[in-house]
Order: sequence, then structure tokens, then C-alpha cells
Amino acid sequence: MAIDGPSGTGKSSVSRQVAHRIGAGYLDTGAMYRVATLHVLRGAVDTTDPVAVAHAVRGLPVSVGSDALVEEILLNGEDVSAEIRGDAVTAAVSAVSAVPEVRAALVEVQRALGRARERMVVEGRDIGTVVLPDADVKVFLTATAEARAHRRNRQNVSAGGADDYAAVLESVRRRDHLDSTRVASPLRPADDARVVDTSDLGFDDVVQLLTELARENMGAAL
Ligand code: DC
Repeated sequence: MAIDGPSGTGKSSVSRQVAHRIGAGYLDTGAMYRVATLHVLRGAVDTTDPVAVAHAVRGLPVSVGSDALVEEILLNGEDVSAEIRGDAVTAAVSAVSAVPEVRAALVEVQRALGRARERMVVEGRDIGTVVLPDADVKVFLTATAEARAHRRNRQNVSAGGADDYAAVLESVRRRDHLDSTRVASPLRPADDARVVDTSDLGFDDVVQLLTELARENMGAAL
């Protein structure tokens, strides 16, 4: 099952819950781009230099778990699951994930992981279009930039961060623009994806809808 869409649609929490409900493994491909970005930043590589970034990411020692309820993200054996969500990585990840060599290397790993188990929910931006074009179910989760910025701002506040909706909206728009206009695998729904707008839907409604789609398309045995 491929679940794509921009950030702030509730994609990760929904994908994990759906994977858990249908007894599937789960792969967060955004986390892999974040690990690549952290590695580049730690190496003091200029993130605006695609040649240097491509070189730095060669042989990236990343390992991600496939358990829907346990997040395991390792860089060189070190647990970096918290650090990859920080501001420094978030600010640089669009530039790093736009480098074609970075995408080619990670897509290869993602395909192998996506096919390693009989049932997998794989979440990202280009899963239905590039990584797993033969997926049994493709979903594109979307929501207005305002709805996504509200969600992100609420998350920031509950994590003890600043309450700054305007800045969050600006950053959501900036990332949308970068992700949808990049030359390598821009963010767009696959032609055969079911587009779901979550702006006015609750978490449980989205999980229910996607679980039903999975049951209809991934075999009656679920
Ligand atoms: O889902 P996220 O916010 O953790 O993703 C981080 C970044 O990685 C985001 O800017 C888009 C990029 N990404 C990508 O280009 N392709 C994917 N399959 C997943 C994420």
C-alpha cells in the first residue's frame, strides 16, 4: 500500500495505524531522507552543492525498522529518531532530497524493504509514482496549506515550542513549492491513486477509510 502526500496531512500517524490494523509492516521513507540530511549536516557538507551532497550520501549507513508501532531509525547504529525531526534537518531536507543521486540510492533500499514482507504500508512522496508503481492500493493524502499549518503549529505548541501560525504557514508553503517543483520525482498523485482531502476529516475517519481501501484491494483475508 503506497501512501503519499505533503507534510501536515496526518500521513505518518495514519499510515502507522493502518499498517497496525491490517497486520502490515510500515516504512517511513521521509525518515530516510531526513537521516541522509543529518549525515550531510554532520559532515559539514554544503547542502546547496548537489555534487558534494551526492558524494557524502554514498554508502549511507542507515537502518530503519518496519514495525508500525516502534520507531527505529539508526545512523551508523546510533538512534537518531529524535534528531532527524529537529529544525536543522527540517530546513535542509528539501535540498538534500532533490539531489537525483540521493533519491536513486534511497529508492533502491526502499524497494527492497517494501517488497521484503508480504504486506507493507510505505509512506512518502513518490511511492505510488516511482518507488512501488505496482502497489495494490495507492492513496494520496492532501489538505489545504492552512489546515496543515494549523496542525503543525498545534504540534509545536504541545511539544513546548513557539506558537507562530504565520511562520509555520510560510514554511509549509515553501516546502510544498520545493517538493512539487523539483525536477527529480516531484510530489504529485499517481494517475491511479485515490486522492483523500483530510482538511475536514478526523484521524479516526481517515484511518477507517484507508483500512477499508486496504481490505478491498489487498485480499479478503485481511
Ligand atoms: O515526510 P517528511 O516530512 O518526514 O519528509 C521529509 C522530506 O523528505 C520532505 O521534504 C520531502 C522528502 N521526501 C521525499 O522527497 N520523498 C519521499 N518519498 C519522502 C520524503
